[in-house]
Amino acid sequence: MIDVRGLSHTYADGTQALIGVSFRVAAGEVVSLTGPMGSGKSTLLRHLNGLLRPSEGQVWIEGRDSSGLRVAQLSRRVGVAFQEPDHQLFKTSVRDEIAFAAAGRDRLELVLDWLGLRAVARRHPLDLGYSRRKLVAIAAVVAMGTPIVALDEPAAGQDRAGLETLFSLLASLRKEGRTVVFAGHTRELSEVADRRLRLDSGRLTCG
Ligand SMILES: Nc1ncnc2c1ncn2[C@@H]1O[C@H](COP(=O)(O)OP(=O)(O)OP(=O)(O)O)[C@@H](O)[C@H]1O
Ligand SMILES: [Mg+2]
Repeated sequence: MIDVRGLSHTYADGTQALIGVSFRVAAGEVVSLTGPMGSGKSTLLRHLNGLLRPSEGQVWIEGRDSSGLRVAQLSRRVGVAFQEPDHQLFKTSVRDEIAFAAAGRDRLELVLDWLGLRAVARRHPLDLGYSRRKLVAIAAVVAMGTPIVALDEPAAGQDRAGLETLFSLLASLRKEGRTVVFAGHTRELSEVADRRLRLDSGRLTCG
């Protein structure tokens, strides 16, 4: 599903965020992406739907070189939930936020339950606490129904209940056969992954 080949990314200010990163993810795999702050995790996830483009190397998605695909095309195959939920949320209720993204009404209802958001469905997303806003942003991406789901630090700021919600979300996505890549430091969550990738200063050190 994902075939990253010799991916390097250098930002405009000269920061080398990724250096020669190569790995593959097969259909239905659940893979975690770990690494210290600033190691390039978010930069890598943003390449999967074309929000960032390689300085060198290629990102192949479902057997196609993504350099020939627009963000709008890639976004139908890969959903990316941002690290910072407020960069993503723009509707006036949780329900509308998810409904806007959802591939159909059934999907909306299902995802409200998966993320434990039914009780706050009518609330304004920005009135919720950070951990809940994060779950809303994740819900909207999951609701799109893309075959590949990328979650940037889903566990950040979550308490025990939030973590349990994420465990069960990953189990549900796994059951649906979706391919999942998630970034984060939370060891507990990465233990449920089939495989762990680790970045250090922009280089993949295992995987
Ligand atoms: N827009 C940008 N312009 C310049 N440098 C950037 C930009 N975004 C990120 N960087 C730098 O690129 C490197 C990788 O950043 P990135 O956000 O991908 O790391 P990360 O592993 O996601 O970190 P964190 O754990 O803090 O989320 C860091 O040195 C960061 O400062
Ligand atoms: Mg990050």
